[in-house]
Amino acid sequence: MIDVKNIREDFPALFELKDGRPIIYCDSACMSLKPKPVIQALMDYYTKYTACAGRSPHMYSRETTKRYEDAREKTANFINAKNSSEVVWTKNTTEALNLGSMILKLDGSEIIITTSESHNSNIVKWMFLENAGKIKLKVLDAGKTGICSLDALTEAVNECTPGKFLVSLAQVSNVTAGIIDVPAIAKIIHEREGIFQLDAAQSFPHMPIDVQKLDVDLMGVSMHKACGPSCGFLWGKYHILEKLHPLILGGETVSDVKIPNTIKMLPPPAKFEAGLQNYAGVIGAGAAIDYLDSIGMENLHQHEIALSRVMLDGLQEFGDALSFLGPSKAEERAALAAINLKGVNPHEVAILLDDMYNIFLRSGYHCTHAFHHSLNLDQGTLRPSWYLYNTEEEVKTFIDALREIMDTLS
Ligand code: ALA
Repeated sequence: MIDVKNIREDFPALFELKDGRPIIYCDSACMSLKPKPVIQALMDYYTKYTACAGRSPHMYSRETTKRYEDAREKTANFINAKNSSEVVWTKNTTEALNLGSMILKLDGSEIIITTSESHNSNIVKWMFLENAGKIKLKVLDAGKTGICSLDALTEAVNECTPGKFLVSLAQVSNVTAGIIDVPAIAKIIHEREGIFQLDAAQSFPHMPIDVQKLDVDLMGVSMHKACGPSCGFLWGKYHILEKLHPLILGGETVSDVKIPNTIKMLPPPAKFEAGLQNYAGVIGAGAAIDYLDSIGMENLHQHEIALSRVMLDGLQEFGDALSFLGPSKAEERAALAAINLKGVNPHEVAILLDDMYNIFLRSGYHCTHAFHHSLNLDQGTLRPSWYLYNTEEEVKTFIDALREIMDTLS
């Protein structure tokens, strides 16, 4: 197990006081707090060697280039990619999934399959493209567990023309916390020559990820949910990245340009990283990877299962006063819960948790409007989400605070 007491010392934001009292941070599914080595990496970039990567010959630029590419290498190793050229830096998972969609021909003949619990980053673009007549969209019912059945998926895949479809799914749902069986799904998709894009925003920060074992084709990640600064990446099998069209074009995506209209594109990943990049963010992401690696993703995952168990036990005690989405066993889910407070407004509770107990979490639809509406959860839900720096005592304090608020409001 991990040494949470020591880990907490690495996260200065945990020790900020509000009204002179400590805080409990349980909004890590939205944004994780940052450990000191990541903050230091950002400081170093801005104070010691601020420059562009890959352009100028001077020492600052060489240092930036080295650290920017080192971060790519570390990330590739961390996910067991075959080559660091398979990692493309992006703003976040949303941008990564939007970039992944550039593999499509958009001639109206392709089918996109996703599931009802999808985050807006993995459904809005598809709806938009369908409205424009460029794709056909199939949204499979994920039910309350957030996990679509393999039979339903197989049936949907078998209705597609081989090689003319893309399946885009979240490995872990940011509302049901359910974990899908990625290798089994990859097999179904690849047997019919489809492309499998994975939204790993809520899995990458919390469990070991091996892209070769998962056998997906494209994967989007947000580093800011994984102890890193605000940035993300798209990982893709190299032969797919070679076929992928860039989302944005500009400087450093080309090896030469001539008039009349002649452009010579660089190979991946350069062809996707147009213009000056978020160098500090990427270098900080490299520090976050080092940090997570030093803890061990399996250790971190086991700690989160223990937190989940305490949370689920506590929530069960409320009986009919509330329900939560997703699997009931801690081992089958991530350490977060979207809670439906029967007859009580989740926003009001979130504000009271902040005001009275210094407990920071999120309420609302959590960017899954469609899923909440499909379950008639039109007021939204209350969502605590725990991470490596949280303790079982903090989870219990949240449960006690929620009980006091519910007793007062209901
Ligand atoms: N996807 C992020 C969340 O679930 C924003 O909070």
